[in-house]
Order: sequence, then structure tokens, then C-alpha cells
Amino acid sequence: MTERGNFGSKIGVILATAGSAVGLGNVWRFPYMAGENGGAAFIVIYLVCILMLGLPGMLSEFIIGRHAQANAARAYDKLSKGRPWKFVGYLGILTSIIILGFYSVVAGWCLQYLYVALTGMASGNVDAVREYFTDFSGDAMKPAILGVLFILITQFVVARGVRGGIERASKLLMPVLFVLLIIIVVASCMLPGALEGIRFLFYPDFSKLSSDVLLEALGQSFFSLSLGTACLCTYASYFSKDTNLLKSAFQIVTIDTMIAVLAGLMIFPAAFSVGVNPDSGPSLIFITLPNVFSQAFASMPVVGYVISVMFYALLVFAAMTSTISMHEIGTAFFTEEFTLRRRYSAWVVTVAAGAICVLCSLSVGGRSWLQITGVALMDFCDKITANIMMPIGAMLTCLFVGWYIPKRTVYAEFTNRGMTNQRWFMIYLFAVRYICPICILIIFLHQMGVV
Ligand code: PFF
Repeated sequence: MTERGNFGSKIGVILATAGSAVGLGNVWRFPYMAGENGGAAFIVIYLVCILMLGLPGMLSEFIIGRHAQANAARAYDKLSKGRPWKFVGYLGILTSIIILGFYSVVAGWCLQYLYVALTGMASGNVDAVREYFTDFSGDAMKPAILGVLFILITQFVVARGVRGGIERASKLLMPVLFVLLIIIVVASCMLPGALEGIRFLFYPDFSKLSSDVLLEALGQSFFSLSLGTACLCTYASYFSKDTNLLKSAFQIVTIDTMIAVLAGLMIFPAAFSVGVNPDSGPSLIFITLPNVFSQAFASMPVVGYVISVMFYALLVFAAMTSTISMHEIGTAFFTEEFTLRRRYSAWVVTVAAGAICVLCSLSVGGRSWLQITGVALMDFCDKITANIMMPIGAMLTCLFVGWYIPKRTVYAEFTNRGMTNQRWFMIYLFAVRYICPICILIIFLHQMGVV
């Protein structure tokens, strides 16, 4: 068997794992979800989900991965001593490949928009921008090719290994992403009328709350933290024994949440300053924003140009650090379970996710044969992974760690030779045993109309 890779430094661990968490989920999905579901009210629920369910869920995956030092399926198998818990690992691997498929479609759109921004964004007229997006995303060839191209670039990084590929790319992309984000936030918040956008983000309108909003916030928190896909478990298998799991989880959750809020501060003030409604859904960054930037900076066209280019570059970088992690889950699995060379197993993932990407991309153009239960395959994949597969994966993982794995194993990983206080362990154990499974179950049952 080939020797397993590992992350070379603490900062590498944090940047790579935060890189997985920070992605289109923060810069594309979070702002439009908040926009559709009541702004700050949604954010409050989201934060509660992150702290009560996301953090313990992340720690559980860390514990399994670091202890087993193996790909997701083998990690669950090792710790369950032959019981069928390995299927949770398989579920995670399947989920990550589906996500990689539809996520790359949006990442491909970002590539196109980066190109259009560089060559002078078509903007000004709302209808023209809308038409451009509808024509482009519904096209049979171009978006599919760009999506597959994105997966191929991802593969190029992943095939280079954990340290030479994943860690190196994260150390480069994450700081650049952060700097770009801060520059755009400052520019956006200085626009006249920006205060309305800030108010929208921070003053909750609780009248919008409903069980749907609850489920959306739960799904978003899991999606944003890359939970329930075995991604964190796979990355944790590359952590060293000296990595403090609780501290790392806190740092990653903080970075992820901060970037989501900053993304809101980048988008809403600019949108409000030109009187654009922020609840336009998934197309927010592709239809609404191209106009927003050019209108908001109409008196300074060069600034408008630079901000647009920076914005779409930011999206591409954010997407890349996440697709790398999704790709790695399957690549590690095929490498270790089928004793394939890393290069070849990366191809298996690319072909599988590439096929899903092409189908999802085609479904956007309204082709009826690519609709499932009345929605386009693309939306179906998004909803089924974020609202069903990821929460189920996370719930089973919590039950596994909370009730099945011997407590002393969990304790040893969590406290890490006295690095972490025992009191935190008791709180964590209570959360994974009771709070997480019960909350996730109630939200599900409620959604299905049972309670
Ligand atoms: N957390 C990523 C984001 O917010 O964009 C998405 C993601 C990455 C989901 C990795 C699942 C995954 F395994």
C-alpha cells in the first residue's frame, strides 16, 4: 500500500480545512439564502445551528478520521469492528461526488463571469444581463465544458498529493481570497445607501421564520461546514497526533462564519445602494450583481471594473479550495481501497463527477428529461445533498461517536493527552449523544408533517 500523506504544519491544517469549508456556500449560497429567508433572522438560526450542531458534528468527524488514519469508508469500518457503519462512509463518498458534480457547474459559471469581467462586463441594462445569464447557463455546451474544466483543474491539484497539492494550494488561495474579500467589503460599505444593506443583514425580521427556514438554515450550516460528507473525516486522517481537535474546530468554524458574514457585507450594501432587491435567489450573483457593481461605481468605472474582476476571482478561488476537498474524499477512497495509484483514482472521481456535472448543466436549460420530481436535476442534487444526505450523514456520525465507539477512544482523541479540558468533553458528549440527533430528527419529522 502507498504511504499516506499528511499535512505538514498547523497552519496547513487550518487553511486546508477552512478552505474546504469556505466556498461558494459562503459567497454564493449563504447570501441568497439569507436574502430569501429574512436576512438577520435567518442568520440567527444559522448561528445556533452552527454552534449546537455543526461544531459537535465537525469534532465527531475529526475524531473518527484522526483515530483511524484512513479514507472515510475504512475509517468507519475500522472503528466499528465489522459492523455495517462503513455505509456511513460510503454515503459520505457518494454525497461528495454528487456535490462535486453540481458545484462545478456553478464554479464553471464563475470562470465564465471572470472572463467576461476581465474583458469588460456586459452590464447596465438589467434585461440584457438577465438574458445573458439565461442564454449562457441554458446553453448545451459551454457551461458543461467549463464545469468539467474546473474538475480537471481540481484533479491537477489533488493528484499532487496532500502536502504538495492540497496544502500548498490552500496556503496560496486562502490568504488571497481573504484580502480580496476585505477590499470589496470596504468598497461596498462605503457606497451611499449602504447602511440599508447592513441593517438588512443585522436586524432580524422574525416574522419570516418558519419550519422551512429552519431546515434551510440547518442545511446551509452543514453545507457550509462540509459536514456529513466524510470530507472532514478524510482531512482529519491527515492531521498529526499533536493537532488539538477542539481548538482547530473552533478556528475553522469561526473563519467560515466570519467569511459568510463578510460575503453578506460585500453583497447587500452594494445591492441596496442601487435599490436592488436581495431576494433574487441563486441567480443573485450572476444577474443582480454584475449590474450592481457597474451601477454603484458608475462615476468611477475603473473601480467598478477592478471590483468586478476581484469579485469573480474570489468566487473561483473559494470554489477551488472546496472542490479540492470534495475530490480528495473519493480519491483517497479509491487509492486505498483499490490500491490504485493516486493519479488513476483521481481520474475515477473526475469521470463520475464530470458526468453528473454535464447532466446538471444540461438540466438548467429547462430540458424536461432532466427533471426529477418537477425540478431541474441541478436543484434536485443541491436540495437532496444539503437537506437530506448531509444531515443524515452527520446524524449517523454523531450517533456512532456518541453511542458506539468506546468512550475512552473518543476521550483520548478529544482531550489529546490533556490538551483540552475535561469539562469540554462532557459538553461535547452530551451534544453528540442527545442534542444533535434529536434536533436533526425533529427538524426532519416536522418537515414531513409528522410533528
Ligand atoms: N463547504 C463548502 C462551501 O461552503 O462551499 C461546500 C462543501 C465542500 C460541501 C466540501 C461538501 C464538501 F465535502
